[in-house]
Amino acid sequence: MPVRTTIEQAAKSVMGALSPGESKADILDTLQTEHDEVQELLEKLVDSESGHEQKRLVEKVKRALVPHTKAEEKIVYDAVLALRGKEPKVDGNEGYIEHGLADQTLKKLDRLTANGPEFLAVAKVLKELVDHHVQEEERNIWTQVKENFSDEQREKMNRDFLTAKKKVKVV
Ligand SMILES: [Fe+2]
Ligand SMILES: [Fe+2]
Repeated sequence: MPVRTTIEQAAKSVMGALSPGESKADILDTLQTEHDEVQELLEKLVDSESGHEQKRLVEKVKRALVPHTKAEEKIVYDAVLALRGKEPKVDGNEGYIEHGLADQTLKKLDRLTANGPEFLAVAKVLKELVDHHVQEEERNIWTQVKENFSDEQREKMNRDFLTAKKKVKVV
């Protein structure tokens, strides 16, 4: 076997770099990691005192949040909305509404001058919205996912989620 191929394979197995098609990860583990990332970015944003850093962080939040929410709606919320009963439908609709609010707030923040009073207020509101949303999602939507989908279904959801995320355009 050529040396290069051996090295590439070793690197792949060490790093666990499986393509989405091979991934055995659970959708909820992926969502958890992404929630932690975006919440950490928002924490840094509201603590930042530099306009330059604030703009950089808004860009990072956008690149993390927009693909996450769009793919989550398509793969997770729509699956929950399709379940029988009122509760999953309320949870799914609530999720869509909160995503809409976060999206509008993020767009507003993106248009404002960094470090100004309005920017700082909108950044705080965005953080509060996302924190609230993540808390409820992890409680309500995740309960629906755990109760209604098998391990295999959740692994498939994860692969579909990663594929859907790649198709989202961030402007
Ligand atoms: Fe989420
Ligand atoms: Fe969400």
